Amino acid sequence: MTPNLLTHQLGQWLANYQTLSIAGAAFGDEGKGKVGSLLAGFYDIIARFSGAGNAGHTYFTAKGRKIVSHLIPCGLAANKMCVLGRGEQVRLDQLLAELAEAKKMSGAQPPRIYIDLQCPLWIPWHSLLEAYLEAMREGSPVGTTGQGVGPVAALHRLRIGPLIGEMSAGREYFLKRLETMYRPLAPIFNEMLASGMVDTDTTQIPTPSELADQLFPLFDQVKTCLADTSAVLHNAFRLNYRILAEGAQAVGLDLMWGTYPFVSSTMSSPAGAALGLGLPPKALPHTLLVTKVLPTRVGNGPFPSEIGNREGALTFPQSYPQLFQAGQERDEFLQTRLNLVNSGKATAAELSQYFQVLGDERGATTGRGRSVGYLDIPWLRYAVRLTGPIGLALTQLDRLSGLKQIPVVVDYKINGQCVMPGTIPLPWQWENVEVIMDTWECWRQSISGCQDYRDLPSAAREFVTRLAAEIRCPIPLVGTGPGQADMVFKPRG
Ligand code: IMP
Repeated sequence: MTPNLLTHQLGQWLANYQTLSIAGAAFGDEGKGKVGSLLAGFYDIIARFSGAGNAGHTYFTAKGRKIVSHLIPCGLAANKMCVLGRGEQVRLDQLLAELAEAKKMSGAQPPRIYIDLQCPLWIPWHSLLEAYLEAMREGSPVGTTGQGVGPVAALHRLRIGPLIGEMSAGREYFLKRLETMYRPLAPIFNEMLASGMVDTDTTQIPTPSELADQLFPLFDQVKTCLADTSAVLHNAFRLNYRILAEGAQAVGLDLMWGTYPFVSSTMSSPAGAALGLGLPPKALPHTLLVTKVLPTRVGNGPFPSEIGNREGALTFPQSYPQLFQAGQERDEFLQTRLNLVNSGKATAAELSQYFQVLGDERGATTGRGRSVGYLDIPWLRYAVRLTGPIGLALTQLDRLSGLKQIPVVVDYKINGQCVMPGTIPLPWQWENVEVIMDTWECWRQSISGCQDYRDLPSAAREFVTRLAAEIRCPIPLVGTGPGQADMVFKPRG
């Protein structure tokens, strides 16, 4: 097959969609960066509608250079205009580091990057407040990424959090805004200092004036990127430019529709795209959900199809860092472990570790080990019902190559009753959920390098067809390897 088959197929398929939103279906880290950067070639503008520095999108440029971006959307790889919409929280030092990296990567002509004037602005107080709140949850922390996302969102809703564009109104104006925010927080900071929660040798709690001194030199370096991005996008849409709306995190981490309270605090579901970008909902009617064949979760909270346990998964990369590096030791580990898995004698922890090493399952933002779960049909039915996608991009199908078979979660039961299809248990019911498993056949052959869907082993094609039928959603894209173009397109039917 020609190397351009995928490009040709994608070009034809995406011609139907002037705009497209991309969102994760489960608990994040599903390959949105990879799928987004692949699709970015077919769009003029890539616009992020949610998230913050908590996101870590990993993708590759055409020359194979790896990029991990947190704030700037994946249009960078294809040198396309990038927009940070109002639904995204912005942190200045992180943004500057990413802008510098973008400049280095794209040489003299980096793509145009617009940041909405009214993006909520992270300042160090947010992360201090988050540390306090996590400590107050006594044994049940959310397990956040430490980026202060919850406090940025909450203080924005309380109408005291700062917006990035407010700095352009001058120091006096901005200082007043910081003081308004500081007054209710000061008692908490004082308690943190008095109780020793803050190590005063290493951490300072800056005053409003010290903060302004720190932030203005950073702001001066980004202010030319600020714009009313809703107006920019609206004009582009009117002139028939093509817009890819990039989400962050995933449905399971959405504040309203995820596994509350173990969620992030912005809108990860594609319903947030219109709000986060300031476009009318009718301009963004199409969504592509992304999920990996074995979902993962970091942080705390329900993970119904989890294979091992969270603690073991989180710390595995620290216990065996050498296994996460490419090389002989890793290959030997994988082969021995695969034999054990196929013998049916592997424990859940051993199986989970096999998938962790195979997929290098570590958070791009925190380096924490991601816990791995089985394919979860009831969860995907929920995500599909909630978001009405045009299709599901199923990443990392290659992770199942070599396995004889794999358990799949096909139902949730509470007190012996199946949960209604398309719904998930209530937050206080998760502990009583029993998962019902089936076993699906896998395939022995590697699928790496496959460029045509028809070249996949028949068992792999049957796996995909069966999944699409179970969740009632087409699966137009299937991941066959880690590279950006390691995907095959499955025509409908
Ligand atoms: P926060 O977004 O830092 O507040 O974290 C809330 C929860 O979302 C925690 O369980 C995090 O581990 C999880 N989370 C946040 N961002 C990501 C992501 O990009 N991928 C996976 N999990 C995430």
